[in-house]
Amino acid sequence: MFNRERIVALGEVMVDQITRWTDRWRDGASVDMAEEMTDLAISITGKALFNVDLGSKAVDLRNALVTVLQATRFSNLALATKQFEKIPLPSHRRFARAAKKLDTGIRAMIAERRKGACEDPDLLSVIVRLHKQSRKGITDQKIRDQMMTFFVVGNETPATGLMWAWYLLAENPDVAKKVQNEVDHVLGNRLPSGQDLDRLRYTRMVLAESMRLYPPVWLMTRRAVRDVKINGFVIRSGSYVHVSPFVTHRDPRYFPEPERFDPERWTPEAAAARPKFSYFPFGGGSLQCIGEGFAWMQGVLTIATLARRWRMRLAPGHRIELDPHITLRSRYGMPMILEQRK
Ligand code: HEM
Repeated sequence: MFNRERIVALGEVMVDQITRWTDRWRDGASVDMAEEMTDLAISITGKALFNVDLGSKAVDLRNALVTVLQATRFSNLALATKQFEKIPLPSHRRFARAAKKLDTGIRAMIAERRKGACEDPDLLSVIVRLHKQSRKGITDQKIRDQMMTFFVVGNETPATGLMWAWYLLAENPDVAKKVQNEVDHVLGNRLPSGQDLDRLRYTRMVLAESMRLYPPVWLMTRRAVRDVKINGFVIRSGSYVHVSPFVTHRDPRYFPEPERFDPERWTPEAAAARPKFSYFPFGGGSLQCIGEGFAWMQGVLTIATLARRWRMRLAPGHRIELDPHITLRSRYGMPMILEQRK
């Protein structure tokens, strides 16, 4: 599902969804790029992973997704116990309603797919086909759990990454100009495709640098199942260990002047000179993100497709404040003014 060949083929589906989504945009309009990028991601994963057109349902699903993710706000996690969740607070009721909406939507897609031959190569068809072939093993609940994981992580993370990339491009017009030059030079008058990924080198460097400063998954947690010694430190069984790309990515030993947005840090030579885990927006080890190739394709193609036609300016006076949930959101969204390139 996630090998290179398949992902290159998915490039076409992605670009089709991106152009359809942004055909509604108008010169001078104000949009919230946090919402736009989430709706777009939902349309893309809907088509690419579920083979369903979710365009018309995107706003509804986005609201449910955002409500569910509110519950993962870092300060809420400390309180998250089964007993606490049972207290009928308004926020708990909102969470339950939103989770149910996602659950119902995903179960409906599974039920619909079961009726067909499931010969398409999308993830949902492959899983349902496997389920039909195996006598036991994959239960309905497991299919639902897998699809829910993909729906949540496959939408929220690329959307967050792209929202910060647009913010940084708006704040750094010289970098935005270089992206436009690359896109114009590589593509001319045509739309990008999966084959262009290697040619859109600078665009990819921009995305890498924005995920350095604003890694969508800013914190990962592990719980030790037994005592373990790592690098001289003893970690007791039951303890939690947190690793944060946000912190490591701003370590001046690896990234001098770490606050500065500088895509040139991502030339092949500069990247090869740094230790492997100085940069890990997609995690590592056995839980390394399976969607990494998909995410690079989606990210680069989204920036390239939009940069062909649009420039974004941050809405004047807008306040930027980090809002760390399971992903690194922006507390007041990301309102931007669209300017059509002539
Ligand atoms: C910029 C986009 C993305 C980022 C930054 C990202 C980041 C990550 C990270 C850091 C992990 C590991 C978490 C841990 O170690 O605890 C992870 C896991 C995962 N990612 Fe991604 N991801 C992205 C996009 C995607 C996409 C597009 C998909 C699917 C199409 C995807 C599917 C998954 C799955 C299935 C897991 C494993 C979840 C689990 O173990 O339950 N990701 N991702």
